This record gives sequence, structure tokens and C-alpha cells, in this order.
Amino acid sequence: MTASHSRPIGVFDSGVGGLTVVRALMERLPMENIVYFGDTARVPYGVKSRATIEHFTAQIVDFLLGNEVKALVIACNTIAAVAGHKVRQSAGNMPVLDVIAAGAQAALATSRNHNIGVIATSTTVNANAYARAIHAQNPTARILSQACPLLVPLVEEGWLDHEVTRLTVREYLKPLLADSVDTLVLGCTHYPLLKPLLKQEAPNITLVDSAITTAEATAQALAAADLLNTNNPAPDYRFYVSDIPLRFQTIGERFLGRSLEQIEMMGLG
Ligand code: DGL
Repeated sequence: MTASHSRPIGVFDSGVGGLTVVRALMERLPMENIVYFGDTARVPYGVKSRATIEHFTAQIVDFLLGNEVKALVIACNTIAAVAGHKVRQSAGNMPVLDVIAAGAQAALATSRNHNIGVIATSTTVNANAYARAIHAQNPTARILSQACPLLVPLVEEGWLDHEVTRLTVREYLKPLLADSVDTLVLGCTHYPLLKPLLKQEAPNITLVDSAITTAEATAQALAAADLLNTNNPAPDYRFYVSDIPLRFQTIGERFLGRSLEQIEMMGLG
């Protein structure tokens, strides 16, 4: 084991949602140190323009590179959709993983009829990001994308099994259910928390959780680059946010499924 193996994985998101990816990483790679950045002062990104998101993303990436990370994981679908290429440019040879590449691959592996539904934020859907990523691997797949802007606030409110959320989901899923999609990509960090409700509303559709597939892709990329940390039974987890940590901590524990410690405020820009 060398110093480069023990460097942390840098994970980032527009706010708290990326903790669904951190949770999957902790389960899949329990010996890895992790540094997380959530841009809680400027969330949501899902309704912002490409130029703004690129600008914010560059600041986050600079911060994480300054923390000597060995790999970057873009946990935010919206960032991956519009600024993924910029992150890769800044990262040079360092492995960069993102939820869209992993989710697209998993969707194709799951779908039998290659009619794939995608639910995501408006910016992700407008960027056509999942369709492009899936078509790059299979140009004949049919993609039906649906923007679901109301779901992020409902999840942050904790209304995971609430009648209002159920009716909202039902409305958003209507066009997808009317078509013959057999697979639904959860193309936003917040949606894995809605899995039980989505399963009830779309019982015949297989859900693809890009958090889990991103963690698997990260494990493979680290192994290929000989960067896996294999001897670190008490890993270090540090969380940075751009607004005061209170709300992040309260909501974050729901996303992470465990208590959140070591949160620090770090303003960018
Ligand atoms: N993290 C964002 C995503 O996965 C959702 C929250 C936001 O709009 O910033 O697209």
C-alpha cells in the first residue's frame, strides 16, 4: 500500500442528494476514505443553466483536487449531464465516474425490450443526457424522458410515503406507463428514496438506481488503476457544505442511512 492508495475518493453534488451515492460507495468500498462536497448554498442545480452549473462545478472540482483526491465521482445527475466533460478535462488522468454513464450502462443491461424510461430534473432531461449516453452504446434503444421537478422538494421534505407525493409520481409516470417501457432509470440523486412508492406505482417496471451502479463502476475503475485501498478498516469520511450544516445534517442522515459526523462549512467563489 502506498500513499496514493490511501488518498480519498472525492464525491460531489449540488447538495444533500449525492449522499445516496456515498452510501452505496461505503457499502461497496468499505475501506475507502471519502471527501464529499455538497453545494447547499446554491442548490438546486436542476433548474439552472449550463453556464452557471459549469462555473459552480469548476469551483467544486478545484476544491476537491486541492484535497488530494485519487478519483472523482460526480454524484449529481444534473452536473454529469451538463458539465461532465469539463470535469474530465480538469481531472487529467484521474478516474472520473458519474451517475449517468453508470446508469445508462445498467439500464441497457436490465431492459429486455430496450424501451427505457428516464426520470430526472428539467436540466438533465433538456440536456438529453441519458438518451445520448444510452444511444452511444445502443443506437436502437428507445428512450422516454420525463422531467419531475416537484420530486426533489418532496423528498427533501421527507414525504416519501405521502399522498401528495404519490399523486405527483402518478402524474409524472403516466406517459411512461402508457408506453411499453420495461425499465425506469432513477436519473436524480433524490429518487432512490422513492423506490418503495415507485415500485407500488409501476409494479411491472424494473428500477435502475444509478447510485449502486456508480459505486460498482468506481470499484472497477480503482482496481484497474491500481488505486484500491485494501487495508483501512476505519476509513475517514469528511463532508463539506457551502451553507450552514444544520439542514444538511438533518436531511442527510435520511439519505445516508447512518449518522453524519465531520461536517464543515466551506464557502466557494
Ligand atoms: N442532485 C440533483 C440531481 O441529481 C438534484 C438536486 C438539484 O436539482 O440540484 O440531478
